[in-house]
Formats: sequence, structure tokens, C-alpha cells
Amino acid sequence: MDSLKPERLPVHLAVIMDGNGRWAEKRMLQRIVGHQKGVETVRVIVEECSRLGIRYLTLFAFSAENWLRPKTEVKALMALLKKFLRAEIKRMMLNGIRFNVIGNRSDLPPDIQNEIDLAIEKTAGNNGMLLTLALSYGGRQEIVCAAKSLAAEAAAGKLDPEQIDERMFGSSLHTAGMPDPDLLIRTSGEMRISNFLLWQLAYAELYFTEVNWPDFDRNELARAFRDYQSRERRFGMTSDQLRKEPS
Ligand code: IPE
Ligand code: IPE
Ligand code: MG
Repeated sequence: MDSLKPERLPVHLAVIMDGNGRWAEKRMLQRIVGHQKGVETVRVIVEECSRLGIRYLTLFAFSAENWLRPKTEVKALMALLKKFLRAEIKRMMLNGIRFNVIGNRSDLPPDIQNEIDLAIEKTAGNNGMLLTLALSYGGRQEIVCAAKSLAAEAAAGKLDPEQIDERMFGSSLHTAGMPDPDLLIRTSGEMRISNFLLWQLAYAELYFTEVNWPDFDRNELARAFRDYQSRERRFGMTSDQLRKEPS
């Protein structure tokens, strides 16, 4: 941990928390036990990121595609989510964390929508880390939604299509106002994006680990950050140019 350079930590960390089911299946346990363990990991990682001074932490908790899972698993996940939201408000207040959700919130059961509204409202005045849960979230759906809203404005004569640029488009996404992720971590050995933050990850550093999410811990996080700090983010330029640029 000590070898981490605090000034070179990602400003925005995004995580695809994967492998809960396999973690449980390997131990002959129900998949939901893996999800329960996964929630404990969320607590640990949220607290650690906040302690390290990460400004934005975005966690993929439930994808738009995850609705296709067996009804019993979806139900159990929603119940866990509700419990998590209730229990976490206190801890978020203690750590000055601001809570946020991206995704199609209206797909979620009404009681969960209420818990979300409450958590957002209660933590709105905090100025520590912004914790964003992606719930019923899909990157393509988000892009289509942004395109639709800009098209509607143009059709209503409120917007000249020529004015649309990357900045405006980005501001029409659920992540408006947030910087793009610097680092994406995906656990469980899968090496895909699974429709997460397609627009926003354009220049993120990608880090994949074999560790399943329930086994991911502070040390694994530090390992990911160390790896990130060894990367050279060139953004299309050459190494030489970066070295000459005043930092
Ligand atoms: C990630 O773990 C949690 C969610 C997608 C909700 P999985 O449930 O996808 O675990 P695996 O991939 O089946 O092991
Ligand atoms: C991605 O994991 C979604 C979340 C972590 C919430 P999945 O396990 O659903 O991804 P795929 O379907 O295997 O790509
Ligand atoms: Mg999975």
C-alpha cells in the first residue's frame, strides 16, 4: 500500500463487480450467498476508496441485461440492494460520501426507487467521494437516450444540430458532470465491457483480475492501483511529448 503515489491515484474508478455466482458455486453454495459476500466487498472497497481520496467511484451493480436472469435471483438481488441502501446511508454520512445512481431507475421496484431517492437526498450535501451505483444500466441504452433527447430538442427548434459536440453529448448522458473513468477494474477473469459506460470508457486504463468479487479486498485494490500507476497514458501522443509536457 505504501508504494502507492497518492497524487497518481485515479480520480474516477469504475468497477465491474463480477464473479459472485462462481465464487458461491465453487463452494457448493447458492449463488445468492456469493451476492451477499459481494455486498461485504462493496462496503470494504467503498470505505477504502473514500479513505484514499478517490473522488468518484462507479460500481456496476445490476445491468439492463441482468433482468434476463432467473426470477428468484433477480428478486434476491433486489432484496439485497434494498438492505444495502438502508444500511449504508449512515456509513455514507459518516464518510461524507455523496450517493448517486445511473441507469434506468424506473425499471426498479418502487420501494427500491424510494430508498434510492432517500439516499440521494440525505447525502446530497456531502462533499466527499461521489459513489455511483449503476442499476438497470446499459451503455447503449444510455447513448440512445441521449441521442433521443438531443434529437427532440433539435426537432423542437431549440437546438441547432451543428452545435452538438462531444461535450454536449457527454452532458446528455447519466454521468453528466462527472469526469470519465481513469481506471476500469473487472474481477473474475472475464475480459469484456458488458455494455458498461461505453462512451465514458473511451480512454480508461483497463485492469482485469482473476479474483472473484467476493475475494477482492484492499490488497487487490492496491495491486490494481499500482498497476495503474505504472501505465503511461498517452492519449494519442508519443512518450517523448508526454515527458516534455510540464506536469
Ligand atoms: C456479479 O456476479 C453480480 C451481478 C451481475 C449482479 P455474477 O452474478 O455475474 O457472478 P458470475 O459471473 O455468475 O460468477
Ligand atoms: C456485468 O456482469 C454486470 C454487473 C457486474 C452488474 P455480468 O456477469 O452480467 O456480465 P456478462 O453477462 O457475463 O457479460
Ligand atoms: Mg457475471
